[in-house]
Amino acid sequence: MPGMRGLFIPGPTNVPQAVRLAMDIGMEDQRAPDLPAFTLPLFEDLKKIFKTRDGQVFVFPSSGTGGWEAAMTNTLNPGDKVLIARFGQFSLLWADMCTRHGLDVDVVDVPWGEGVPVELFAEKLKADKSYSYKAVLVTHNETATGVTSDVAAVRKAMDDAGHPALLFVDAVSSLASIDFNMDEWRVDICVSGSQKGFMMPAGLAIVCVSQKALGLRKAAILKRCYFDFEDMIKTNKDGYFPYTPPTQMLRGLRAAVDLLLEEGLENVFARHHRLAEGVRRAVAAWGLTLCAKAPKWHSDTVSAIVIPEGFDSSALVKHAYSRYGLSLGVGLNKVAGRVFRIGHLGDLNELMCLTALAGSEMAMRDMQIPVAAGSGVAAAEEYYRESAAKLLKKAA
Ligand SMILES: Cc1ncc(COP(=O)(O)O)c(C=O)c1O
Repeated sequence: MPGMRGLFIPGPTNVPQAVRLAMDIGMEDQRAPDLPAFTLPLFEDLKKIFKTRDGQVFVFPSSGTGGWEAAMTNTLNPGDKVLIARFGQFSLLWADMCTRHGLDVDVVDVPWGEGVPVELFAEKLKADKSYSYKAVLVTHNETATGVTSDVAAVRKAMDDAGHPALLFVDAVSSLASIDFNMDEWRVDICVSGSQKGFMMPAGLAIVCVSQKALGLRKAAILKRCYFDFEDMIKTNKDGYFPYTPPTQMLRGLRAAVDLLLEEGLENVFARHHRLAEGVRRAVAAWGLTLCAKAPKWHSDTVSAIVIPEGFDSSALVKHAYSRYGLSLGVGLNKVAGRVFRIGHLGDLNELMCLTALAGSEMAMRDMQIPVAAGSGVAAAEEYYRESAAKLLKKAA
C-alpha cells in the first residue's frame, strides 16, 4: 500500500525521527571508558520523568512485563499478601503473575470500564489491623479499557489507614503521557516500558524504585536472577550493566527523554489531554460510548469505544487495517468483539488524530455501523480549532 500507514494502537507508538536517527548508529563497546558519561546522566534525567529525587531508575532489556517481575521478586516473599483490583487485561495479567510467583493475591473484581475502587481499598486497608497486605498494586492506566485510576487517592487511603504496605504502580501506558508523581504519591515501585509514552520500540522495562522498596531486597527471597536489583545497583553505579545492554535503545531513549524534557512534561500532559478530548468528542458525535464508564475514568492515552450490539469490533479492526492501512486496537478478553481502541499517545498531533478518526469512521460505515459520515471528524476538528484558539489567546 503506498503512502503512510496509521499506527493508532496504544503502543508501540510512533517513533519520532530524532529517536530513530539516534538509534541508527554502529555497535558500541558496552565496556568503553566513556560509556558512563552517557549512561549516568541518562539515569538522572529519567528520574525527572518519574518526578522523583530519591528514587532509583533501572532500565532492563525487557518489555514492561519484566518490570512487574522485577518489582515483586526484589521486594516480596512467598505467601506475601497483595491487594489488586482487576478491571482489564493488564491488571488481570499482573494479578496472574503475582499468583504464579506464589503470592497470596486478594483480587477485587471490578466491572471492566471502572478503575481502582478506592473506597473499597480504604475499607480493606483499615480493616487490616495486622498489616497483612505487603503491597497494594495499582494499574494507573488500564490500556484494555481506556481507564485511568487515581493513584493519589490510593496513597491517601493507605495513609488514612496508617498502612505500611508498599505501593506499586503499573504506569506502562501512562508515564510520560499522563501526570505521574513518584515522590508526591510516595510510590514504591513504578513500572513502565519504552514503547508508549517514551515513543521507542518495545524492549526496555523502565522501573523506578523508592529507597524504602530498595531496602527490602536483601530480605526478599522470591526467586530472581536476571531482574535482581542488586546486580543492577552494583554495575549501574559506575554507568555499566550486569549484562550486554542494548546500546542503540539507550541512545534512542536519550533522544526521547530530550524530546520530552524540551517540550516540558506539563505540556506533554496537556497535549495528550487535548488530543484525547478531541477523540472523545468524535465518539460522542458518532452516538457511541466509551468503555470507561464515567469521565473520572477517561484515559488521555487510549479510548476504548463500544460498538453497537450485533457488530463485531474485531472484524472492524481487521477491515480498517486491510482496507485503509489503519491499525486500531482490538478488544481484549472480556471486551473482545465489543470495543475497538484508538491509541492517542506519544509522538502525536491533531492531524494524526483526525486520520485515526477518519479511518475509523470510514471503516465503521463500510461495516454498516450507523455513524454519520464526517460526524466524528467534524466534532474533533471543531474542538481542536477552538481549543487551539483559546491556547493561543492565553499565550498572547
Ligand atoms: C498497562 C499495561 N501494563 C503492562 C503491559 C505489558 O507490557 P509489555 O507488553 O511491554 O510487556 C502493557 C502492555 O500493553 C500495558 O498496557
